[in-house]
Amino acid sequence: MESFVWEWGSLLLRWLHIVAAMAWIGSSFFFMHLDASLKRTPDIPAGEGAAAWQVHGGGFYEMRKYFVAPAHLSEDLTWHKWQAYTTWLSGFVLLAWIYYAQSRLYLVDPAVMDLSAPAATVLGIGALALGWLIYDGICRSKLGESEAGLAAIGLLVITLAAFGFSQVFSGRGALIHTGALMATWMAGNVFLVVIPNQRKVVAALMRGERPDPGLGKQAKQRSAQNNYLTLPVVLLMISNHYPMLFGSKATIPLIVALITASGALIRFFYNVRHADHARSPWWAWAAASAGLAAAFVLALAGSAGGRAVLGLPPQAEAAPTIALASAERALPAAPPPDHVVELVAGRCAMCHAAEPVWDGIGVAPKGVLLDTAEAIGRQAEAIRRQVVLTHNMPPNNVTEMTEAERGVLAAWLETAR
Ligand code: HEC
Repeated sequence: MESFVWEWGSLLLRWLHIVAAMAWIGSSFFFMHLDASLKRTPDIPAGEGAAAWQVHGGGFYEMRKYFVAPAHLSEDLTWHKWQAYTTWLSGFVLLAWIYYAQSRLYLVDPAVMDLSAPAATVLGIGALALGWLIYDGICRSKLGESEAGLAAIGLLVITLAAFGFSQVFSGRGALIHTGALMATWMAGNVFLVVIPNQRKVVAALMRGERPDPGLGKQAKQRSAQNNYLTLPVVLLMISNHYPMLFGSKATIPLIVALITASGALIRFFYNVRHADHARSPWWAWAAASAGLAAAFVLALAGSAGGRAVLGLPPQAEAAPTIALASAERALPAAPPPDHVVELVAGRCAMCHAAEPVWDGIGVAPKGVLLDTAEAIGRQAEAIRRQVVLTHNMPPNNVTEMTEAERGVLAAWLETAR
């Protein structure tokens, strides 16, 4: 029963988190686009504002932006903040739900560092808080004055954070914490800078005073940064489904750096293009593609199977790799010999069975059954990916599978073709 509650809670939280994030990112894309497409109009004095026309859902919208102070401010003002707050809050609870409450399965890998659950939790939350203070300090310092300079330093901090997380957490835990750190910057920007500044502007307008234009400029700087962070953050949030991204802690920081730079470049392309299609910086796509291709090669170099593809020697701690040829072909469902069935029964079937016996696992994870010879045969390809090519299973090696045993599976998978 308990594990059903954990799973159901995780589902509902994730649902809320994804929906809130879509609303937040949607409005971020929308307003960046709107800002870029604003044009001067004769009825607003130069430098005071601009307008854009849009069509949607059967109607036409004339969107007018007042750079600082409209002559009249409506009482009915829609604030864009709950999308951000809901995303961060649901994300934080989800992080705690999955990674802190079930840390042995997802966050703590004894081969990296044998942390207790409370230590891992304090480390994770502490890093998010410290990361915000560092980022906010950089933005407010001289370094924050140049947009390009800030982007470069931000990228460096993100890479260092990924390195730090990879030294203490499981690969998957390291990527999710790097994403959570960037998401904390984004939510902090809204909660601690953008919205308070906007409140001050509104209060000044209500008093009939002209607000300080610096407040609006600072808010715009932070909201532009949020826009550049959106794509990399989303990728890091879904990274937990892709063990090839975190197969080796050595490659995690560079993979994160490449993904972050590539995602930001793609946003850059759209932000420029929306202002003027003729000036579309197509080179940004070329650079982003090169970055993602480099991340792909690094991911290969970080996994045992991938190293064989690249012709690199195995890593010291890597599992024996299977021959290159079979990596290209899907394996047919050939039931394995008894010694393989026994091995899988001893290392995997406590979780992957019709009635799992592992504490906290109520149903076979992802519906993967490994409790009969036929079932194992059907999963041959998945086993190769999760156990031989990467060491994603057993999760954080909870059942202490040895290298020799991974070799036995690799040998079976070789002959099963
Ligand atoms: C302690 C419980 C546990 C053990 C032991 C375990 N697994 Fe898993 N397995 C999981 C969980 C949890 C997931 C879901 C992971 C996720 O959400 O990404 C999973 C997912 C999988 C998947 C699907 C991966 C995907 O993303 O599609 C495969 C295949 C798999 N395990 C194979 C194995 C094999 C083979 C073994 C034994 C060598 C094994 N597992 C041992 C808990 C376990």
